[in-house]
Amino acid sequence: MPDRYDLPAGFRWGAATAAYQIEGAVAEDGRGPSVWDTFAARPGAVRDGHTGAVACDHYHRYSEDIALMKGLGLDGYRFSIAWSRVLPAGSGPVNPAGLAFYDRLVDALLEAGITPLPTLFHWDLPQALEDGGGWLNRETAYRFADYAAVVADRLGDRVPAWITLNEPFVHTVFGYALGTHAPGRALMFEALPAAHHQLLAHGLAASLLHEHGLEVMLSNNLTLVEPATSSAEDAAAAAAYDALHNRLFTDPVLLGRYPDLSALGVPDDIFGAVRPGDTDLIHTPGLDGLGLNFYNPTRVAAPTTPGLLPFDLVDIPEAPHTAFGWPVVPDALRQLLLRLRDFYGKALPPITVTENGCSVDESTIPDQPRIDYLATHLDALATAIAEGVDVRGYYTWSLLDNFEWAEGFNQRFGLVHVDFATQRRTPRASYAWYRDLIAAHRARCGR
Ligand code: FCB
Repeated sequence: MPDRYDLPAGFRWGAATAAYQIEGAVAEDGRGPSVWDTFAARPGAVRDGHTGAVACDHYHRYSEDIALMKGLGLDGYRFSIAWSRVLPAGSGPVNPAGLAFYDRLVDALLEAGITPLPTLFHWDLPQALEDGGGWLNRETAYRFADYAAVVADRLGDRVPAWITLNEPFVHTVFGYALGTHAPGRALMFEALPAAHHQLLAHGLAASLLHEHGLEVMLSNNLTLVEPATSSAEDAAAAAAYDALHNRLFTDPVLLGRYPDLSALGVPDDIFGAVRPGDTDLIHTPGLDGLGLNFYNPTRVAAPTTPGLLPFDLVDIPEAPHTAFGWPVVPDALRQLLLRLRDFYGKALPPITVTENGCSVDESTIPDQPRIDYLATHLDALATAIAEGVDVRGYYTWSLLDNFEWAEGFNQRFGLVHVDFATQRRTPRASYAWYRDLIAAHRARCGR
């Protein structure tokens, strides 16, 4: 069996973060408020009332954080740009100080020999755009393309590849359908126009980035959906869930059409959101790479009580679980990669794993469960590559413990422990393990 040391010679090693989860400095240098500032201030929205107001203070400590990345020997660093730092009201005047921060960050990364991989949208929509309807408003897609142009004009000379959106599935479902993330709307399936408008935003921005000669990826959270039993009812429930979680976001981009959503009670035009020509706008620019954020598979059964949802999500009791309660099934990553290749065939671009990792208990500096998680998932990845799937790189989530959305600081995903009272960074055992793996892999490949 191939393992992580057998990954291809050009395989790129990275780590990932996101702006609201690490930057802090939410009211500094002209940054405008985002939906996450508003949501986190709402009593009861985030566990223990935590907010990202300070987070890891990365806005001021980015040099120290880049030194940690350099210590790992990373090829690339995936971060996100806070739209409301660049355009405080989401559109209109540019904030030079906000843009200058990302300019400094990019230069410091390049200086350290690390390729920047920015994500343009990782859930922190400018509040001013939310006030106009957020992603439920089609206009937001056009404002996103304008924002992409501003940032690409400034950084495109030094940043070769870009990710447009992070996990439109999670943003749509948690942010707009269930309301457990910002902006906190609970519209159930009527949230899906927000998915379409994000995909439209992706397509418009992708065309523009290509005009700048830049490469474009889209990162989504994809899961291996498995029916709980071999019954026809469970198979139908699994297919409905797969359409919602995976295919709704990948089919339009790779195939130029939406999957059949009728089992969810969603009409073909997604409640009037899809206009003639939209799927071409989403599909035609093409993708240079598919970003895969993988954490766990999902087991699905037919609904026990007939109601709104055509599926039940059930536990995977035989698997170990992370501190977050997520099942750990490394082979599901291999199976998912093979499924993507078989399903999309030639339409599938090269894949980069843009997130993978697990949370551990706070006190664990010797974080063996994380080392085991990363090692087994990288072995599964190496096996999928040996079986013919084109995977180019791996960005672990995350470099640092950070603000984990509705969980606040209570779920810790970092290779580096952060003491949020003092901002002291302490590399965990997984940091040394990842550093040594990268060095050993390079040595084996002679680079
Ligand atoms: C993903 C998010 C990322 C982080 C990890 C744990 O869904 O993209 O910001 O919260 O989960």
